[in-house]
Amino acid sequence: MIMNRLATKAISAVARTPSSRGFSTTSAVDAKVAVLGAAGGIGQPLSLLCKLSPEVTELSCYDIVGTPGVAADLSHIPTKSSITGSLPSPVSWPPRGNGGLAETLTGADVVVIPAGVPRKPGMTRDDLFNTNAGIVKTLVEGCAEYCPDAMIAIISNPVNSTVPIAAEVLKKAGKYNPNKVFGVTTLDVCRANTFVANHMGVDPKDVDVTVVGGHAGITILPLFSRVNGAKFTDEELEKITVRTQFGGDEVVAAKAGAGSATLSMAYAGYIFTENLLKAIRGEDIVQCAFVESNLTDAPYFASPVKFGKDGVKEILPLGELSAYEKKWFDKMMPELKNQIKKGVDFVNN
Ligand SMILES: NC(=O)c1ccc[n+]([C@@H]2O[C@H](COP(=O)([O-])OP(=O)(O)OC[C@H]3O[C@@H](n4cnc5c(N)ncnc54)[C@H](O)[C@@H]3O)[C@@H](O)[C@H]2O)c1
Repeated sequence: MIMNRLATKAISAVARTPSSRGFSTTSAVDAKVAVLGAAGGIGQPLSLLCKLSPEVTELSCYDIVGTPGVAADLSHIPTKSSITGSLPSPVSWPPRGNGGLAETLTGADVVVIPAGVPRKPGMTRDDLFNTNAGIVKTLVEGCAEYCPDAMIAIISNPVNSTVPIAAEVLKKAGKYNPNKVFGVTTLDVCRANTFVANHMGVDPKDVDVTVVGGHAGITILPLFSRVNGAKFTDEELEKITVRTQFGGDEVVAAKAGAGSATLSMAYAGYIFTENLLKAIRGEDIVQCAFVESNLTDAPYFASPVKFGKDGVKEILPLGELSAYEKKWFDKMMPELKNQIKKGVDFVNN
């Protein structure tokens, strides 16, 4: 229940506070959030939600295109956080390397990365590897240089590979802290909650599905056996499990070549980010994340994680899987381990 209660609480700060149409302007501590890929389909609504968040006092938007416009637009929203929009080499000649990235990242507490290309119909997340691996590598090299103590939340797919890429880049730079690098799997939890709530005929805020494994197809494993009061026939359980694993494909197909989930992902990325900021200022937070983990024999694994001010405080035990879940778990592990290895090899070979 914890994660979903937090999600509901977090979004209520934006959506339900009556005083200023929900756009609270108070924050307990200063917190700088950098969004890399901020002009994209996810990046723009994610930046909007961050601009509305009472947890954020400084928002830095970075992309290779469009961020001056995104930042100018968001700057007219009457919330307390300051906002900047940077490009790689702002108004300089000769180009001065990645000055915009340095400005974006310096002083950041949390860096959220939705930079990269999205899927088109028929593509798997792994098909994005060739393009997105290099983008994530470059951006995390920037983090190692300009904000080595920041928490880094990676949205760019394939998350099962881009998180290990980030870790290897930081290791090479001597800056790796496994407690501060996460893959964002929150959208899988959102989908599982929505689908099971619809099935049960209850309010989605009253369910919280634990989703473990990774973030791609069969590596996504929702543990519906733990949802109080949920009853399924074998056929229903198979259907809802597969729908959660391949929920992203529904959106890719419906967008018909125009990209993948952006609005629901921005919501999920915002919930994840805001929970990190709450943890930084001392709240105990539990949410699912793809992190370096020794729960299984895969070096990274998504599961419920307790967060504190220095990032991961504790990876909670996996607990018993049902026979049905164990079947998926066994099927998933070779694929997950391969995708992780692909990321590690990309940086080291
Ligand atoms: N983790 C998840 O659950 C989840 C869900 C949906 C999408 N995604 C992934 O998120 C990524 C972004 O999706 P989108 O729909 O926003 O794509 P998009 O193409 O709309 O936006 C991506 C943005 O990244 C920018 N970009 C590209 N290279 C960059 C670089 N080197 N530095 C900074 N910015 C750069 C682009 O200019 C663009 O604005 C994709 O990889 C997609 O697969 C993840």
